[in-house]
Amino acid sequence: MIRNPEFDAFQGFVLAAKLYWTGPMFQDLKARYEDRLARDDKGLPPGPERVQALIGEDTTARFFGFTERHLQRMKYSGRLGLHPAHAAHRSEIEAQLNAPVPAGMLEIDPDFHQPKYYSSIDIHQHPGGVWSDEIAGVVYERGARSTTPLMSKDKDLHQRFTDIVLGKARPARLLDMGCGFGKSTRPFWEELREGEVVGVDLAAPCLKLAAQDAAAAQARNVRFVQRSATETGMPDASFGVVTSTMLLHEMPPAVIKETLQEAWRVLAPGGWMVHLDFLPPDDEFLTWMHYGHGRRNNEPFMEPLAKMGIDGEMARIGFTDVEITPFEEMAGALALQGRKWRFPWTVIAARKPA
Ligand SMILES: C[S@@+](CC[C@H](N)C(=O)[O-])C[C@H]1O[C@@H](n2cnc3c(N)ncnc32)[C@H](O)[C@@H]1O
Repeated sequence: MIRNPEFDAFQGFVLAAKLYWTGPMFQDLKARYEDRLARDDKGLPPGPERVQALIGEDTTARFFGFTERHLQRMKYSGRLGLHPAHAAHRSEIEAQLNAPVPAGMLEIDPDFHQPKYYSSIDIHQHPGGVWSDEIAGVVYERGARSTTPLMSKDKDLHQRFTDIVLGKARPARLLDMGCGFGKSTRPFWEELREGEVVGVDLAAPCLKLAAQDAAAAQARNVRFVQRSATETGMPDASFGVVTSTMLLHEMPPAVIKETLQEAWRVLAPGGWMVHLDFLPPDDEFLTWMHYGHGRRNNEPFMEPLAKMGIDGEMARIGFTDVEITPFEEMAGALALQGRKWRFPWTVIAARKPA
């Protein structure tokens, strides 16, 4: 949408620097950790705390963290950051977002109140988060293109997850919780043409973009509703599948529990709940790295999600067939684990008994 060679060059530089950070910088830091561990484990048990004690105060570790935090800040803020660059085109963007969409495709609640856990953090270092500014969804859409720097075709990730979910069931009705600007929802409504897909999210600016995208593609089987995943307003037992993509790690554990309970309520007997999120592997270095990423990227609930025992929580509610499975966001991604920085993508699935 923005035509500005200086902006493109700057964002290209940030992405290239991120690639350097995911590769050589990550490898240097890991080699340093392995060397320290081999020489002296400080008598500590394995775990992220031991990694912190071994290398946490190292210049290499500090520079790694500095680079991670400030490249992300540069992506969004500053003269050529995504937010100011889009703000310069505000009226054009707002006009496009507020263009009419087919009746029923978009439900925005003008009196909606955001939960405090959500409104008090600029998630991903996005100024104002993805909800408080009318242009936030468009800014987020542009930002999401380089969230996973190793991937060239990022749409692939959502299609891969969709294939896994629809491999379990092809429902007449599917609910996508925390649908954002509709990137995770789109492959579902593209695949389930005879069914109905509903996306819910807290953020009106994202929902508006999701609806514009669906309207432009002449979709007739999807609607986007401003509701919390904890209280969707959907009827009991009305969906065959409930999904989310990158939602759970943005919620404190108490809200995750409410969300699982809500998924249980709206699922029909025999239906599947399938979430795509991040859980660190059984590796102290990668776990330390993941928790640090959560802090540096303003995603404070990454670590609590990893520690809450979500499988037990699902079983407590009554779900069966609980599956926690590593997810390959692109071909060969799991083979890169430990060699380059990547998110610990994980599919978290369970079934409501028939
Ligand atoms: C990382 S984004 C992912 C968006 C989309 N699923 C995707 O894959 O592109 C997380 C989304 O969860 C939404 N969110 C956070 N808490 C929520 C809640 N309680 N109910 C519904 N959506 C929520 C945010 O507004 C944001 O759009």
